[in-house]
Amino acid sequence: MIDWSKAYAARMERVLPSEIRELGKIKHPDMIHFGGGLPEPDLFPTEAIAKAYAKILSDPVLAKSGLQYTDTAGYMPLREYIARYMATLGVECGPENIILTAGSQQAIDFIARLFVSAGDTILVEAPTYLGGLRAFDAYEARYALLPSPFANATDVKTEDGSKPKLGYVMSDFKNPTGGSFTLPERNRVLDIAAEMDIPLIEDNAYEKLRYSGTPVRPLLSLDAERMGGIENSRVIYTSTFSKIVAPSLRLGWVAASSAIIRKLELVKQAADLAPATLNQMVLLEVLDEVFTPTHVEKVCAVYRGRRDAMLAALEKYMPSGVTWTKPEGGLFIWVTLPSHMDAPALVRRALTDFKVGSISGKSCYGTPPEMNTLRLSFSMVAEARIDEGIKRLSEAIRAS
Ligand SMILES: Cc1ncc(COP(=O)(O)O)c(C=O)c1O
Repeated sequence: MIDWSKAYAARMERVLPSEIRELGKIKHPDMIHFGGGLPEPDLFPTEAIAKAYAKILSDPVLAKSGLQYTDTAGYMPLREYIARYMATLGVECGPENIILTAGSQQAIDFIARLFVSAGDTILVEAPTYLGGLRAFDAYEARYALLPSPFANATDVKTEDGSKPKLGYVMSDFKNPTGGSFTLPERNRVLDIAAEMDIPLIEDNAYEKLRYSGTPVRPLLSLDAERMGGIENSRVIYTSTFSKIVAPSLRLGWVAASSAIIRKLELVKQAADLAPATLNQMVLLEVLDEVFTPTHVEKVCAVYRGRRDAMLAALEKYMPSGVTWTKPEGGLFIWVTLPSHMDAPALVRRALTDFKVGSISGKSCYGTPPEMNTLRLSFSMVAEARIDEGIKRLSEAIRAS
């Protein structure tokens, strides 16, 4: 029999099963899951999506184009819509600055493909989005810590002393901490990227999920203003329709200078030719109904209630020595346990003995991990169950 392990490409050594998927296989009817962080399916605009598919497929002309290949960068009316949406975030751009991707995950993968050669160093936050790290791993990237917004850019330490190739940050409601950069921090991150003269990925997947506080302009908007327009910006912005519409449409986008969009088109053409035309047409049909303040507030109201229930329960049950973030949006709260505690062991025990799921923060680091951290998501648990889930987690912590 063939020995597959000898046949794989070297880059696959870094591509390993995720802890979240593995632990997700432990099932129990009474389990309360704060692990996954998927959007709440009751909030999907199912009826609007069903109507849009029916409308397009029952019209012979629309159906023909909906089932055909489309432009690699995406369906033009949708690119125009996104360009108009970016203007509301303070980014003046046109459809030539937009490419549709299969979720923002594919955008991260493509940007890495464009910039990262084996052994290159990417500057990341600690902790950072683990899906981003897994995408970068496939290109055999190394990681160094992005200097904290108030440190000196020359503090960066790469393993071999070489210059970093790329920076990757989230600006709003980061996965996993829920934190956001303040305006001075955003400006400092841009200064650091400019001092190093590197491109900066701004992953803003949760931008629309704000439950309190005041919006701050994205890095792309600030940098475009500094540089005299998006064409001169070093920021490559990505976001997604997964969190407000539905992840299964697999539609996200990149907004960047047109030179970068043209390069990403080449990458997309080689990878999968083009985004699904029908899904893009359906999305465009439903956006007028769901990318509206009314629908966004309906979604935010549900998550706001869950966030508040989780914060209240953490306050009520957690033993002293445990701290957590208080996010203004997004789907996550980040918990720091006393420094002697081993979060991966706690997560297993909490699942098997206390029937509550969470993920250890360990896999959210490209740089050496903090082993006493947990990511909790309130997105999929009804408010009434959150109190019970946090009570169980606190019991597991006390028993560890
Ligand atoms: C920070 C961040 N970026 C990107 C993604 C990818 O989402 P999608 O590919 O569905 O757009 C996620 C998904 O959870 C995320 O948390």
